[in-house]
Amino acid sequence: MGKVALITGITGQDGAYMSEYLIKKGYTVHGIKRRSSLFNTDRIDHLYQDPHLENRNLILHYGDMTDSMNITRIIGEVQPDEIYNLAAQSHVKVSFDTPEYTANVDGLGTLRILESVRLLNLTDKTRIYQASTSELYGLVQEIPQKETTPFYPRSPYAAAKLYAYWITVNYREAYNMFACNGILFNHESPLRGETFVTRKITRAVSRIALGIQQDVYMGNLSSKRDWGHAKDYIKAMYLILQQDTPDDYVIATGVTTTIRDFIEKSFTEIGIKVEFCGTGAEETGKIAEIIPDIFVNKVGESFLENIRKRIGEAVIKVDPKYFRPTEVELLIGDATKARTKLSWEPKYNLDALIEDMMQKDIKEMKKEAYLKEAGYRILNYFE
Ligand code: NAP
Ligand code: GDD
Repeated sequence: MGKVALITGITGQDGAYMSEYLIKKGYTVHGIKRRSSLFNTDRIDHLYQDPHLENRNLILHYGDMTDSMNITRIIGEVQPDEIYNLAAQSHVKVSFDTPEYTANVDGLGTLRILESVRLLNLTDKTRIYQASTSELYGLVQEIPQKETTPFYPRSPYAAAKLYAYWITVNYREAYNMFACNGILFNHESPLRGETFVTRKITRAVSRIALGIQQDVYMGNLSSKRDWGHAKDYIKAMYLILQQDTPDDYVIATGVTTTIRDFIEKSFTEIGIKVEFCGTGAEETGKIAEIIPDIFVNKVGESFLENIRKRIGEAVIKVDPKYFRPTEVELLIGDATKARTKLSWEPKYNLDALIEDMMQKDIKEMKKEAYLKEAGYRILNYFE
């Protein structure tokens, strides 16, 4: 018999990659999915199986992290060997608008999982992974950040995740539970939500190249993030639960880059050079040059004439509405412990990540370009 895993947040970026990874390893994967007015299973549709089939390896349950009884019932029914608690209101800026809800889902939601496992007498059987975050370091107290670096959260999201981090440690120490924190730095992919900065950029750059969109408004261009690929990071989550003893690990690449440089690299990937000038809300990024060979190869010849006409125009602008009340200016992680103890090593560097995201978004956005050509109204709905 293969192992049984329960994934909260299965419809999210990490949940989707994790499901695929565990199914390939022979697991039966159960996932908790919120009821919504649309299916919202796009990221896991390729794994979907008809509920009438016997011996399925992907089973979805309706549930919500705010509903204790529901969480307890599902864990009781599933009797998981491993729980990956990935569900969260995961957007830092949105957490300033919905602080109480974020605390409930991201903070108390973790308590609900831990307490359910305890009350169901599953402490010896069920291992728990808690999706902790580099946002805990916030106003960083040490560079680079590692497991022993003090936390200084800078948002309702980070404060909620701080509670989740410590309640996980507490249940491990108090009840001898196999409960672990992965302190993961930013990880991205073609499946990344459209309102996180990397995906907002790769989508906008693709749409600008294809002539669907004129420009994009961004927030703080100077903050720095340590970006890895989600595919590498879910392997680390898995390894954390396969150890002999439970522990907490930082997962990061050790390289940090500004938002501005991520934008520049995304344009360069498809043969467009941009130059930034000005500061603060007045900063803009203009198209400086087109490298035709690369552009034609990556985007297509039919889009070349249009982008050439736009040399000298500003395509990146700043709107202060995207600034955060308190910002995390710099994140850079030291994953020595994970590399040594888990033998974890990321395969993707930043250029390979951007190449993957740009390739998929150009392909995806071309569908919109053809719809636009056919007369359909194409909306810009970036927030
Ligand atoms: P994501 O794409 O935003 O996915 C979040 C998932 O949580 C979605 O499936 C979402 O469901 C679900 N969810 C939200 N509220 C819920 C609720 N009340 N009840 C049940 N499910 C709920 O996030 P991600 O990037 O995959 O990240 C996974 C986890 O890692 C999160 O906990 C995040 O905070 C943490 N983390 C992420 C990063 C990163 O860089 N990606 C880094 C460190 C830590 P819907 O699809 O219905 O919205
Ligand atoms: N979202 C967004 N949109 N961010 C922008 C924009 C914009 O238009 N312009 C600049 N930024 C800056 C933000 O101010 C922040 O400094 C940085 O880009 C990254 O923002 P996000 O991509 O939204 O990610 P995050 O770092 O705040 O949070 C993500 O990573 C955390 C791990 O460190 C999320 O995935 C969290 O759930 C995760 O815990």
